[in-house]
Amino acid sequence: MSDTILTRLKNNLSFYRFNHSRQVAEEAKKLAYRWEVNPEQAFLAGLVHDYARDLSPERLQSFLPSFLEAEAWQIPSIFHALAGPSIVKKELDICDFRVLRAIRWHATGCEEMTTLDKIVFVADFSEPSREFEAAQEVRKIAEKDLNRAYLLTLKAKLLYLISNQKPVYSASLRAWNKEIGINGRKA
Ligand SMILES: [Fe+2]
Ligand SMILES: [Fe+2]
Repeated sequence: MSDTILTRLKNNLSFYRFNHSRQVAEEAKKLAYRWEVNPEQAFLAGLVHDYARDLSPERLQSFLPSFLEAEAWQIPSIFHALAGPSIVKKELDICDFRVLRAIRWHATGCEEMTTLDKIVFVADFSEPSREFEAAQEVRKIAEKDLNRAYLLTLKAKLLYLISNQKPVYSASLRAWNKEIGINGRKA
């Protein structure tokens, strides 16, 4: 891991979020070994997934891809994930598309999640400093069944958004529908 990435991460993030990022990186690396994907990609994606998290919505908007659906522009809480790939490419020189897409989908999930995407999504929710019950449950399940851990994470996030009257990005709903099997697959 280059010192530049760590230094920039430290400068860009609050202490709390810097610590969270390191924990996500470690958790993602552990899951990558378990589920046989590249541990270095998992560690890097975990480390920088929230790199853009503390930037202002205005600055983040300037990095959002122009092809993005109109609804996404109305949900500031996901800007840091959707703009993340462009920002880490520009500022940290990270160009690995597998890492970039794991960053892009870490907050919302999507219909076509790779194993690496799922690992970062699950690790973000369940890294060891997350003490709430659902996180602890997901952390345990992720060792045995990554898809189930992914589904439970998606469910917890959707329930949180709906019970708090917050908007749900349609990519998350499509991800949910796919995972519970309306297209013929069983969870
Ligand atoms: Fe995030
Ligand atoms: Fe995060």
